[in-house]
Amino acid sequence: SVSLYLDCDTGIDDALALTYLLNTPAVDLVGIGTVSGNTSSEEAAVNTAALLALADRSEIPVAVGAHDPIAGSYRGGAPDVHGSNGVGDVALSGGAAPVAETAPHMIVRLARTHPGKLDVVAIGPLTNLAKALELDPTLPNLVSTLTIMGGAVWVPGNITAAAEANIFNDAEAARRVFRAGFRINLVPLDVTLQHRFDDGDADLLARTGSDLHIALGQMLHRYIDFYESVDFIRRAPLHDPLAAAIAAGEVTPTQIREVPLDVVLESANRGQTVPVDTPGDPLVRVIVAAQESAATVILDRIMASAVRTAPS
Ligand code: BDR
Ligand code: CA
Repeated sequence: SVSLYLDCDTGIDDALALTYLLNTPAVDLVGIGTVSGNTSSEEAAVNTAALLALADRSEIPVAVGAHDPIAGSYRGGAPDVHGSNGVGDVALSGGAAPVAETAPHMIVRLARTHPGKLDVVAIGPLTNLAKALELDPTLPNLVSTLTIMGGAVWVPGNITAAAEANIFNDAEAARRVFRAGFRINLVPLDVTLQHRFDDGDADLLARTGSDLHIALGQMLHRYIDFYESVDFIRRAPLHDPLAAAIAAGEVTPTQIREVPLDVVLESANRGQTVPVDTPGDPLVRVIVAAQESAATVILDRIMASAVRTAPS
């Protein structure tokens, strides 16, 4: 199995990605760090710990990461998309306290204890990764693969016409991470918008006997409500779970383009991910399409732990 560190801004789709990873036997989740994005890094840690408790996996350490982006300050989450608490206003409780180390320190420590063997999955803004790079500039040589949910390369953004939320929320961090020399798999809106869950999937989760899945089902209905308001269909994209499943090797990309990427920092197009033609810049593997059955693969894994706890 592969040792994996997850960096997240939990978040409804983050919660689904987390459950997916917990249920994937090939993945050994050795640490989780939080960052501000969908909600604050502090609240994301509370949400993550509560989900781990519901999954009976409180032994996995959660480290609180950056509250503010590299430049400027946290702008207050995405209550219209993820509710005022980050998890669709579904009340979660319980969970272990976060560990004392910060998320950037956890990244560096885990990378050094698993040299060349640690996979990193980042499904929030890239602030913790940028800070970890400051702590140890050799990090790209220690990390096996860095899979990032973020960016909108050949499609419009979701926070502005140009930018996707995770990159927009810390454009400076994203630029540094793209240039640092990691082996990066980028899972942008180009592919995530093509793979979705619907109300039937949410009902399936909510109808199990497991409190974790009931909560996920409630969150998913709420997430679908938001996407109906912007896309006019009751189907919510699997941004973060798709990145997790590609990192775990259970969903196969069907179209990949390797390009150096830059991040626009200037106002109008801030956060835009642009392919550049600079010889020598590190290549990013941009996943443009993935196997058609991705949503089914992901739902089956998420449901796996519900089946075991459902009343007979
Ligand atoms: C990304 O932004 C967050 O809202 C989601 O959790 C996902 O990581 C989608 O743009
Ligand atoms: Ca996220």
